[in-house]
Amino acid sequence: MKLKTPLTLVTLALTAVGIISSANAAEKVYQVGSNMAFAPFEFVENGKPAGFDMELIVAIMKTQGAEVQLNNLPFDGLIPALQAGTIDIAMSGMTITEERQKRISFSEPYYDNGLVVMIRSADKDTYKSVDDLKGKTLCAQIGTTGAITVSKMSGKNVKLFNNGPEAFMELANKGCEAVIHDKPVVNYYIAKRGDKGVLVLPGQLNSEKSGIGVAKNNKELLKMVNDGLKAVKENGEYDRIYKKWFGQ
Ligand code: ARG
Repeated sequence: MKLKTPLTLVTLALTAVGIISSANAAEKVYQVGSNMAFAPFEFVENGKPAGFDMELIVAIMKTQGAEVQLNNLPFDGLIPALQAGTIDIAMSGMTITEERQKRISFSEPYYDNGLVVMIRSADKDTYKSVDDLKGKTLCAQIGTTGAITVSKMSGKNVKLFNNGPEAFMELANKGCEAVIHDKPVVNYYIAKRGDKGVLVLPGQLNSEKSGIGVAKNNKELLKMVNDGLKAVKENGEYDRIYKKWFGQ
């Protein structure tokens, strides 16, 4: 297991897109936090933030005349960072849950998501459905809905990792029997690597909606984000970015 990314903001250079002219340089730069090991939503490519969420948040804030800086943080540090005010926005494929809504405010949903189960292909006759995995050693990413799900299924018999790819590695190394993680991320990982050693059980465990997080009751920023989301849906930017990362 790799060392945790330090909680200090690791600021990564932002691509030219979205940076507005120096005439506005005195204006606030919104600090966005994201756990960038979640392709195709957010990842680091050639030292720069890339992916659906990263392009979308830049586009959203641009419609509001606002500049953003993208910061790579541990996923379980995002809500505390919003609460502490070290970041303004959490854009990290974060599922809108009741529990999280007690601590932060979410935008309107921007993506329909859900969890899937990944197993080693060699085990396909042993584990045919999620029920076969109850009580087995299961892997997930710390602080995620996947982590909550595996804990419910296997209690203490779970291994949690700083990011999805570390959990996938543990599965490959037979450190656990399955990983529960977000469907598009699991599918992207398998497709990118052409990995035949693992597979996804048919069906989705649930339906989740991703939202953009801001500090609780920051109504002004929440309105900016929601207005921006509406604007990019209307002006075609949302569709363009969606197609680029998810096809169709
Ligand atoms: N959708 C899941 C959740 O909200 C996982 C999100 C993980 N995001 C990330 N960038 N690693 O719990």
